[in-house]
Amino acid sequence: MSNIARHIAIIMDGNGRWASERGLKRVKGHERGAEVVRTMTTYASNHPEIEVLTLYAFSTENWKRPKMEVDFLMRLLSNYLKNELKTYIEQEVRFETIGDLSRFSPALRKQIEINKEETKHFTKLTQVLALNYGSHDEITRAVKSLCERREEITVESLENAIESSKFGPVDILIRTGGEQRLSNFLLWQSAYAELFFTQTLWPDFNPDELESIIEAFKKRHRRFGGI
Ligand code: FPP
Repeated sequence: MSNIARHIAIIMDGNGRWASERGLKRVKGHERGAEVVRTMTTYASNHPEIEVLTLYAFSTENWKRPKMEVDFLMRLLSNYLKNELKTYIEQEVRFETIGDLSRFSPALRKQIEINKEETKHFTKLTQVLALNYGSHDEITRAVKSLCERREEITVESLENAIESSKFGPVDILIRTGGEQRLSNFLLWQSAYAELFFTQTLWPDFNPDELESIIEAFKKRHRRFGGI
């Protein structure tokens, strides 16, 4: 039986380089990157296998970037969620997030809640944006909550307490932009993910490349620790 690409997770890297290569400001790369988020979400929502698309939009480490870039990313995200709500609805895409939202502005948090509420009944695709997300933070929060509730720590109880677990294990983890590392992304959920690294910068990523990754994934032999 061939592998099913149910959950795809992407580290969207290379926006800044894409812009610099064109003599543009880094933020122009993020702008183009947001358009690619839309294209890839539309593609995934019409794909027969993909049920979950998790995208690393803002990490717990991204606050270290210059304030101007952080502010730009916040505005971009907020406008994206506002403007794209109708697209989520038209395409029957459920919007979800992982990560600690408490550090975002009340206005952005409100928009996130609106998009979640308005799309919560859709089942065609779940798009999960990782926002102020880091696996160390997520796993630490899960362990703390188990300790507070005086629950025994087992693989199962920890799995249930980890926020991203509700979207299931990752089948394919892609990183664009040429680096070959996981950068604190979905460490628990990617225990048996098949990893794909591409030189393509995120603003140049497209459905054809995703399709060839899925084809290569189908040919991989997944053993999940067996033989
Ligand atoms: C990494 O590129 C990208 C990010 C830190 C942000 C990802 C954001 C987007 C794709 C656009 C906004 C998203 C949504 C959902 C509206 P980089 O800046 O690290 O690139 P570099 O490695 O070339 O510098």
